[in-house]
Amino acid sequence: MKKIRIAMVGVLAAGALYTVGPSTATAAPTQVPLGAAQAQSKGNSAARTSGAPNTDLPLRLLAKQHGLGIGTAVDMAALAADTAYRERAAQEFSAVTAENVMKWSELEPTRGQYNWGPADELVRFAQRNGQKVHGHTLLWHSQLPAWLTDGVADGSIDSAELREIVRNHITTVVKHFRGKVRAWDVVNEAFTDGDAPVLRDTIFRQHLGPDYIAQALRWAHAADPKAKLFLNDYAIDNINPKSTAYYELAKQLRRQRVPLHGQGFQGHLDLQYPLPIDAPQNLARFDKLGLETAFTEVDVRFFLPGDTYKEAGQVGSFNTLLSACLLTPRCVMFTVWGFTDKYSWVPGFFDGQGSATPLDENFQPKAAYRGLQQVLAVASDPNNRRGF
Ligand code: G3I
Repeated sequence: MKKIRIAMVGVLAAGALYTVGPSTATAAPTQVPLGAAQAQSKGNSAARTSGAPNTDLPLRLLAKQHGLGIGTAVDMAALAADTAYRERAAQEFSAVTAENVMKWSELEPTRGQYNWGPADELVRFAQRNGQKVHGHTLLWHSQLPAWLTDGVADGSIDSAELREIVRNHITTVVKHFRGKVRAWDVVNEAFTDGDAPVLRDTIFRQHLGPDYIAQALRWAHAADPKAKLFLNDYAIDNINPKSTAYYELAKQLRRQRVPLHGQGFQGHLDLQYPLPIDAPQNLARFDKLGLETAFTEVDVRFFLPGDTYKEAGQVGSFNTLLSACLLTPRCVMFTVWGFTDKYSWVPGFFDGQGSATPLDENFQPKAAYRGLQQVLAVASDPNNRRGF
């Protein structure tokens, strides 16, 4: 294999060298497809003439100097059918999250019959491409299989049986992926929104009691003691009553020696709402408890059509969250919830909104992508021992 050794851009750690190889989806972590090397060599010549640093490298390479995992949610149907999607997912990211195929409704659509295929394929894809897997999600009040919700609703599944079903689900799934999933979103979206957040009145809260979260964490830890166990939610990127509810819960669980290792901040932003500019201070609270933090589902939506102001707002929003992560010693992962507008969940859920991801529907870089590259390239980072 012809290897081209190139000096990294001037702003990155001195002497950092990256090996690039031919464009294959099986490129090892420190290699990028030739296309990027061409971009790099083009960029290099531009850098040589202008003196400006060339930051046009894949995100995973730029993130590597920080020990930061850079991830994406993966749409398994697209991964199977779309070569450009598959290659870019391999090239750009060092972490992957199943957008849907590790959720209860997809894994166990019929009671006791597990559909491991799509999730196992994601694990294989990650292993081929030197990527770590973030498991999403063990307990969530959405995307539950009908046999479960119907059984609880009609009373055929009582509290005792639901407890056993939940224990069995967590144990079965975490054991199945033992050693293959770095971290799990054990409970997703546990708190209500607003000024006085409380635990959502889910079937888990109703039938297992308020300490169902602690119990779920213990069951997951017993199934894979090495997996990092996270809680995860949206609208907690800045300091607000909901993020403070998680902070207080984290302190309580840590006092009780419950195996909680991290807090996920989904980072679904919308330009019509204020920028979470105090995200660094918010993450610092959790970091000081000894927890890992991660932005787990970042996208930045706005009402279409776009314009230069919305584009600038999107760049600033992505960069605010990435900067907050880089300012936090144990912020280990920055994951976008889809990397191309071609497959984003946003248009189907928010009428009139879209363009929420870093690449357009033709996989062309948007300003948001360039912004992420630049922040990763220029950040001098004392916290670069994240070890991702
Ligand atoms: O799998 C079924 C398929 O069998 C059926 O034919 C089809 C027709 O309705 O639906 C398919 O399920 C869809 C599923 O995605 C898989 O594609 C559901 O309808 C659809 O609602 C579901 O949407 C997902 C959404 O969670 C559900 O709330 C989105 O793709 C996914 O991006 C989104 O992700 C969530 C995170 O898990 C948690 N944080 C918020 C985030 C956005 O809602």
